Formats: sequence, structure tokens, C-alpha cells
Amino acid sequence: MVTHAPLFGSNPPRIEEAFSRRAKIVLVQGDSHETLKRVPGGAIKLIVTSPPYNLGKEYEMATELDAYLAALNPIVDELVRVLHQEGSICWQVGNYVKDGEVYPLDILFYPFFKRHGLKLRNRVIWHFEHGLHASKRLSGRYETLLWFTKGDQYTFNLDSVRVPSKYPGKTHFKGERYGQPSGNPLGKNPSDYWQVLERDWEHVVWDIPNVKANHPEKTGHPCQFPIELVERCVLALTNRGDWVLDPFAGVGSALLAALRHDRRAMGCEKEREYCEVTRGRIKQLYAGTLRYRPMGKPVHRPTGREKVSQVPLTWLQKQETS
Ligand SMILES: C[S@@+](CC[C@H](N)C(=O)[O-])C[C@H]1O[C@@H](n2cnc3c(N)ncnc32)[C@H](O)[C@@H]1O
Repeated sequence: MVTHAPLFGSNPPRIEEAFSRRAKIVLVQGDSHETLKRVPGGAIKLIVTSPPYNLGKEYEMATELDAYLAALNPIVDELVRVLHQEGSICWQVGNYVKDGEVYPLDILFYPFFKRHGLKLRNRVIWHFEHGLHASKRLSGRYETLLWFTKGDQYTFNLDSVRVPSKYPGKTHFKGERYGQPSGNPLGKNPSDYWQVLERDWEHVVWDIPNVKANHPEKTGHPCQFPIELVERCVLALTNRGDWVLDPFAGVGSALLAALRHDRRAMGCEKEREYCEVTRGRIKQLYAGTLRYRPMGKPVHRPTGREKVSQVPLTWLQKQETS
């Protein structure tokens, strides 16, 4: 599927290689700790990222958990310094698993942010249906996103991310507003369990799919953000023209989400190859040829008629005899 972004012309703004307040897009190839030192304090409205997970992906050596966390500590210090007083950090992580034991990374990272006085506003569950099938524990089907703010005054545009209500026709049943609609005409709060409803009248749980092989956004990166996931954060937590930063940018999904909504975008990424993919995707975004899953599009649900959704005959026989 190719989705066109009609607001975009064919020439993207210049992609700068160092932070400048006047720039629209900054992409720095290198270590994010070094890069962040050159970003002025308070410049960034939203930091949205999925840090390396220490899971032995192709771009990292699995290190011991303590060493892994210690290496990220100075980066978090810099992130808090560059964060705007009314800004937010969205820190998206899963589990670290060693010898069958699960270490939930959000719990381990929480003190990093608390130490700086940041306040947790939500621990969002991002549910997806596909992944590895575990045999000695339950299969993991969610990751989390910790949303911290730097202070008590912070940008939060709830109306930009409302979703259709389940029962928009509900009315007040007593008092002065008896008989009038009780909900919000713009929809309801999307909650901290991320799902998107297809239509006002249907109650179906639709989740934002994990970016896997047959997803329109898939690049060569092993664990890429769906653009849609970041779009929610961008729309709710920034205004037009604000800076959005991903210090572990990968193939630039957070930058694309920011640019799609007329924010400024900065990414730091140590791998040259991923930076090249990001550049290509930015070009495609402005040319209107970027493949991405539009925000709120329902996840494909099998009808039951597809061969893959039918119970194999041999299983049916086994089920009958057991
Ligand atoms: C979990 S991936 C992020 C993927 C990204 N959210 C996307 O949508 O493509 C983490 C990325 O951080 C990069 N990385 C790891 N350590 C880094 C560092 N110290 N500085 C810059 N990038 C780093 C890795 O190369 C990897 O691409």
C-alpha cells in the first residue's frame, strides 16, 4: 500500500548534521551521548525512543544487565538536560530475558528518570498479537511506554488523539443536562492500553501492529517503531514547530511521525546504514511515496475463510479422540 501525503511537495527540507534551532530536520550519525552534548538545554519538547534492548540484536553485543543500564545512565542525564521545561519523555521498552528469566526493563529504568525529578504520567501498554511462542512461560504480547514529564506544567493535547466513543449516543440520565449527550463529540480518551476503534458503532479491539515482515513500513531494521505509535505521542505532547528527538533513531520512524505533523525532527543513530535508510524514507515522505500504515487503520482480522485461519483436519480428528 502506498499512502500519499498531499501536504508535502517533492523537495524535503535540508537534513542538517548538527543541531540548529532554525533547522527542520537534524540527523546525526554517531554516539548519541556525544551528539546530545552539543544540543542546547531545554531545546527539545518531546523525546520519544526505544533504546537498544540488550537482546543481542544484530547491532549490539549482549552485555550484562548492570553494564547495559550503566551505559545508558549518562545518556539519560543528557536527555533530561535537553528536555524543555514543559516537555515529555516517552521511553518504550520490552523485557530483557536471560536463561528464561524475565527482567522488565521499564521497572529497571523508572529510577533513572525519578532521580531527575521527572514525573510518570502514564505507563502505556502497547499490545500486539504476533511474536515468539514461548514454551516454558506465557508468550509475551505487549511492551510498555513510560511517559514522563519534566514538570507539572506540560503540553498535553488530548483532543488531538481522541478516539471514537463506544456509545456516542449515551445521554445524561438526570440533572440539568438530562437527555443531552454525555460524551465528548470529538471522541474519548484513548486510554493507556493502546487500541484504535474502527468505527463509532463497533467495539472491536484493534491494536497497533508490531512492525514485522508483511507490514508496509518494514525496512531492514530488526526492531522498528510503527510510525503510528509515535504519531500519538507527537500529537498529544507537542505543538506545531516543536522539536521531537529520538536519540536511538534506527531507521527514523520517530522523525517521520514528527515531520508528518509539521514538527521539527532530530535523530541520533550510530549505524551509517540506518541513517541512509532514514534519509531515503524522509525523501519518500516528502515525495508522497512513503509506505506507512495510516494512524487508526484497523488491524487485519481473518474472516475464517482463509486457509491459514482454518483448523487442520488432522487436528480436528485428534481433538475428537482426546
Ligand atoms: C531499538 S532500536 C530503535 C529503532 C527505532 N525506534 C526505529 O523505529 O527504527 C535502537 C537503535 O539505537 C542505535 N544505538 C544503540 N546505541 C546507540 C548510541 N550509543 N548512539 C546512537 N545510536 C545507538 C542502534 O543502532 C539501533 O538502531
